[in-house]
Amino acid sequence: MVDSLDEMKFCPVHPTEEEKRPIVSIGAGGIVNDCHYPAYKLAGYSVIGLFDLKPERAQMMAEKFGVPTVCPTIDDAVKLAQDNGAIFDIAVPASRIPSVLEHIPDGSATLIQKPMGENIQQARKILDMVHEKHLTAGINFQLRDAPYIIAAKQMVDKGLLGTIVDMEVRETVFTPWNLWDFLYKVDRMEINYHSIHWVDMIRYFLGDPTGVWCKTMKHPEMDGLAQVKSNIIMDYGDYLRAGIISNHNHKYGLDEQECFIKIEGTKGCIKVTTGVYLDYPKGKPDVFKYNLLEDGKGWRTLDVHGSWFPEAFVGTMGGLMKKVADPNYHYINNIDDAYKTMCVCEACYESSAHGETPVEYE
Ligand SMILES: NC(=O)c1ccc[n+]([C@@H]2O[C@H](COP(=O)([O-])OP(=O)(O)OC[C@H]3O[C@@H](n4cnc5c(N)ncnc54)[C@H](O)[C@@H]3O)[C@@H](O)[C@H]2O)c1
Repeated sequence: MVDSLDEMKFCPVHPTEEEKRPIVSIGAGGIVNDCHYPAYKLAGYSVIGLFDLKPERAQMMAEKFGVPTVCPTIDDAVKLAQDNGAIFDIAVPASRIPSVLEHIPDGSATLIQKPMGENIQQARKILDMVHEKHLTAGINFQLRDAPYIIAAKQMVDKGLLGTIVDMEVRETVFTPWNLWDFLYKVDRMEINYHSIHWVDMIRYFLGDPTGVWCKTMKHPEMDGLAQVKSNIIMDYGDYLRAGIISNHNHKYGLDEQECFIKIEGTKGCIKVTTGVYLDYPKGKPDVFKYNLLEDGKGWRTLDVHGSWFPEAFVGTMGGLMKKVADPNYHYINNIDDAYKTMCVCEACYESSAHGETPVEYE
């Protein structure tokens, strides 16, 4: 983790002092401990209160991060937020998001942890509630706000890579899924809880695919989990290949583990090693390499400070604060855009269930 936002050359968007708003948390579990609060500390965001269904968890988190108020009920948290013009930060299991949103007052602002529901019906319900309540809302697809993605997006937008013809995410890692109990209860696991970040990031660069081909699968040693590995092709026509290959069961040591995002254009290429998933949960350093044909310098390394976890979380909340301050601000994690990522994931599950082309051998 970096010590200061000033160190970060490709810094996630963060508000001015005038734009900053206090935060009230609903749900204070693992991801809030690991990423939300460390990032908010880095960015100087003030969490003024929290509510968690487990009072002892709420107390522990308040003490650990110096949050001044532990709210005994969700309605106390709502009142605290209303009295202080605070933004809500909802980080509860996906299926509980609608029941939490019922308490959120009309016209408020809220960041909601991904996934946006367990399936498209829940996503639609969440989207409809947000619209009916006139909430300013974002979904925490924070990979878009990771410093290496900010750097890559700048290079692509400047045209340094030419026309993009290939975008690939490849993960060959060993993920200890047992760290997250709730994953054993869901019908849709790998894509909804993991590859969804890759899908959202590919959409951020390439826009909405017209279709997908997908197969998401199990592993005999992880039978308690609905699926643990996926191949996804996102269709962008005849010239642009885009896809994700994720294998979370590579138990053969670190030598051949890999996790990278590669963007190839007609004039240049970027390859980012995303270290967080290598040797999980210890992680390895990120590496940002690029090659621009016209400068003839071959492969070079770009110095990018800060990473996905936790620094990117500065941006999902920071962008929301800026959106609240200026309704015309383009907030990249806005819920209407996030819903389209849920549509792509839904299509992936549909494809996986129904999509194969039988092979004719006779
Ligand atoms: N964006 C990311 O990269 C990322 C990473 C990890 C987890 N997540 C998502 O964050 C969500 C939470 O994950 P986690 O790892 O923190 O889980 P967790 O089980 O560690 O924590 C969830 C917390 O929410 C509390 N809670 C549940 N229902 C509640 C309610 N109605 N009101 C208040 N509190 C409630 C629980 O008591 C618990 O403390 C999940 O949906 C997960 O997918 C996102």
